[in-house]
Amino acid sequence: MNIYDYPTLYDVLFSGSCKREVEFLKKTLRCYCNISGSGCGRIFEPACGTGRLLWRLAKLEHKVVGLDLNPNAIAFCNKRFKRHGLPESAILGDMTRFSLHDLRQKKPFDLAFNFISSFLHLTSETLAMSHLHAVAEVLKPNGIYLLGLHLLPKNNAACSSERGVARHGSLALQSQLRTLSFNRRKRLEIVEFRIKATSPKQHYEIVDTFPLRTYSLQQFRDLLKKVNRFDVLETFNFDFLPIQLNSQKEDVIFVLKKK
Ligand SMILES: C[S@@+](CC[C@H](N)C(=O)[O-])C[C@H]1O[C@@H](n2cnc3c(N)ncnc32)[C@H](O)[C@@H]1O
Repeated sequence: MNIYDYPTLYDVLFSGSCKREVEFLKKTLRCYCNISGSGCGRIFEPACGTGRLLWRLAKLEHKVVGLDLNPNAIAFCNKRFKRHGLPESAILGDMTRFSLHDLRQKKPFDLAFNFISSFLHLTSETLAMSHLHAVAEVLKPNGIYLLGLHLLPKNNAACSSERGVARHGSLALQSQLRTLSFNRRKRLEIVEFRIKATSPKQHYEIVDTFPLRTYSLQQFRDLLKKVNRFDVLETFNFDFLPIQLNSQKEDVIFVLKKK
């Protein structure tokens, strides 16, 4: 079972924070890209999933493009764009291998963003490097990449368990993300993601298991150094508050500026 094959459930589960995420993206455009108010921004989301943030940004008249490996997520995303009278700008593809041409664009982007640790789906250094190079290639000079990821705190195991609840009309969801195994040497964490869905007509459960690559702060810094395409301008926590990094910080959004 692939949890991302259920975009309706995914979208309900993760839509609670959209308003604050969009505000943060608007602030980023204003502060780092010199784009204020609505309109004019060129924004790209690799691993866009259902595009829960993209259609909201497109409604503000930004030019948006999304890329994802999952055909169900892309279909869901484009259907919503269409329903809102917006161009169907989600493209099926791999975030480790793409170009402006693949994204059907001539001009580079002001801003790219990637939240909810999607980057950790890239389970080797080669894939992670290839992703960062590809993003740098589609950004303007000085373009910004907002990369949010869960870091491994020093001396601790990976995240053990996280629960969530969400509701949309008569659909009620409960989710749990938990670590099944963790190998610090191989830098691999196997996680289980479980969603229980209840509506007046049915009750069902989806369970997916997948690997994620782990990063300590130092390992992520080493990767950025090796790729050598971005400078870190600032760092925020997942509540979008500025933070000073140290080896105990876990949830971090890096504001990366293309060199
Ligand atoms: C946690 S979801 C995040 C979706 C979206 N960014 C959001 O904030 O809601 C991770 C997404 O990464 C996608 N994904 C995983 N590996 C990928 C790859 N190599 N290329 C493109 N998308 C990928 C999955 O299909 C899934 O939609």
